[in-house]
Amino acid sequence: MCGIVGYVGKNQAAPILLEGLEKLEYRGYDSAGIAVRNGEDDTVIVKAMGRLKKLANKTDQGKAVKGTCGIGHTRWATHGEPSELNAHPHCSDDMNVVGVHNGIIENFQELRQKLAHHDYHFYSDTDTEVAIKLIDYYYKKYAGTPVDAINHALVRIRGSYALAVMFKEYPGEIYVARKDNPMILGKSDAGVFLGSDVPAILKYTRRVYYIGNMELGRLTSEGITFYNLDGDEIKKEETEIEWDAESADKCGYAHFMMKEIHEQPKAITETMKQYFDGSKVDFSTLEKNGAIEEAGGEKINAVLKGLERIYIVACGSAYHAGVVGKNVIEGMTDVPVEVDLASEFRYCDPKLMKNSIVVVISQSGETADSLAAMRLAHDRGIPTLAIVNVFGSTIAREADYVMYTCAGPEIAVATTKAYSAQLITLYLLAIKIGELTGTLDDDRIKELMTALEQIPNSIEKILDDKERIQWFAAKYASAQDVFFIGRGIDYAIGLEGSLKMKEISYIHSEAYAAGELKHGTISLIEKDTLVIGIMTQPDLFEKTRSNMVEVKSRGAYLFGLTTYGNYSVEDTVDFAVYVPRTLECFAASLAIIPLQLLGYYLAVAKGEDVDKPRNLAKSVTVE
Ligand code: F6R
Repeated sequence: MCGIVGYVGKNQAAPILLEGLEKLEYRGYDSAGIAVRNGEDDTVIVKAMGRLKKLANKTDQGKAVKGTCGIGHTRWATHGEPSELNAHPHCSDDMNVVGVHNGIIENFQELRQKLAHHDYHFYSDTDTEVAIKLIDYYYKKYAGTPVDAINHALVRIRGSYALAVMFKEYPGEIYVARKDNPMILGKSDAGVFLGSDVPAILKYTRRVYYIGNMELGRLTSEGITFYNLDGDEIKKEETEIEWDAESADKCGYAHFMMKEIHEQPKAITETMKQYFDGSKVDFSTLEKNGAIEEAGGEKINAVLKGLERIYIVACGSAYHAGVVGKNVIEGMTDVPVEVDLASEFRYCDPKLMKNSIVVVISQSGETADSLAAMRLAHDRGIPTLAIVNVFGSTIAREADYVMYTCAGPEIAVATTKAYSAQLITLYLLAIKIGELTGTLDDDRIKELMTALEQIPNSIEKILDDKERIQWFAAKYASAQDVFFIGRGIDYAIGLEGSLKMKEISYIHSEAYAAGELKHGTISLIEKDTLVIGIMTQPDLFEKTRSNMVEVKSRGAYLFGLTTYGNYSVEDTVDFAVYVPRTLECFAASLAIIPLQLLGYYLAVAKGEDVDKPRNLAKSVTVE
């Protein structure tokens, strides 16, 4: 989705803006632009279609645009086709107000008509131009301050936004506002920064502020002043970001995705460290309503102890982690778990049981559907627990309880390390519920925790043998259709493996519960169709293997993924991949690694843009 950046301070703004936009490239975009002010002089706006390189070339890497105050934007088209005209920044006709926006203004047609009655003309198809001209309209109508004008406009705007705006009469100042779209503000001795996401500003500062929903900020080179919708000043705490600048760099890897695949052992170790006291799962550092609970986890423990049902809601890979989570929680406890896609949950009028909890899983913490699902749970009085990677994100701030996955910044659009950290968090949750509800005794907990601690090491071993997967990918890069089959946790692994493959290599792939094959899908199997069978679950091994035999007899080429020891698979499959042994409930954490590598190497073999696949955005902040 769109990315916004801004800077006001001692240095030239344009190079900083370009650098910030580059760090936000992973969010997905089709055009980009910057607006820079040089003191009292007019604002210079430069836009370009396509990759940021074009914008950089147009501005001589930013050197051709002078000024120490500016805003920038990468656009992912929603209203209006991708074009230079529709690219941001947008401005009022007299350049009185210039701004960038991330989000969707739902009533923009109505506002556009209103403005047209007041002689405003529109050069683009965007909702953003309408928002900027609405601010201009109120600025002139009431002759007040920029804060007054923005507040008037926000009262009229329905939808979501992260806005950054400059006013002609206020050089050296940027005004920002947000509702349901991410924005982070940072401060250093060199000035003040804004970005949609931490990586945009990480190189310059780790001292940040989070601006709340329906709040405004005034940025000058001296600092930031915050306001509420009444225009009253409000105070905000400065927070120190723990991520380091290197974590948002490729560090020698060809792609962020490969770097992040290799960071999985660390992401898991860090996540586990946070909620493991050496012998048991410890929730005393788990956040309640944005702060570490004083009672040391007693509140969340009481909720978990009385649970009669768990609802897991999420999108994409986070949903797939949820499907694994359902299997694991139900395997360790007596609590039934329902997993829903957030986009369905929010509109299906879910019948939520009283003693339940809604677990929302989200890497970004900003996914619009997941956020809406969580708000629905709040409205119905059901406690919410968010499993989130991005510190201070909207979902993290609005959830009753938060478990952070400590994966660090994830830049590649296709998630890997955040997914792995989500799995670990769900295992820890399952163990805790098992302990609290009495289905797991101390010995079993010890056994589970010992197995968990071995996972990072086992992943390292799988990564050491990645060339074998690379070889296979080179051979199968021309595949048209690929099917993943498995049962139980293996099916959940297939869902994620299939998504990894299709989203970056563009090879059509589907995951099926192996038992479903005969109910239609098997008709798609032809000679040499690649079928990937996942067989990590001892009780289901023979069942899935016989489904593999069925497709083989119809010509399929079989890729078998199983654990060391199941060598009988060699008689059935054409290509066998083994992962180290672990407890079967944790097999997803190992079996997903070869499938991530497969998706990656297929995309590389096909020459695709691994980190920024077409049409996809890292953070999906619109429905
Ligand atoms: C796929 C992928 C997406 C995300 C989904 C949810 O590799 O990354 O499917 O999992 O868009 O995003 P978050 O976790 O940020 O809510």
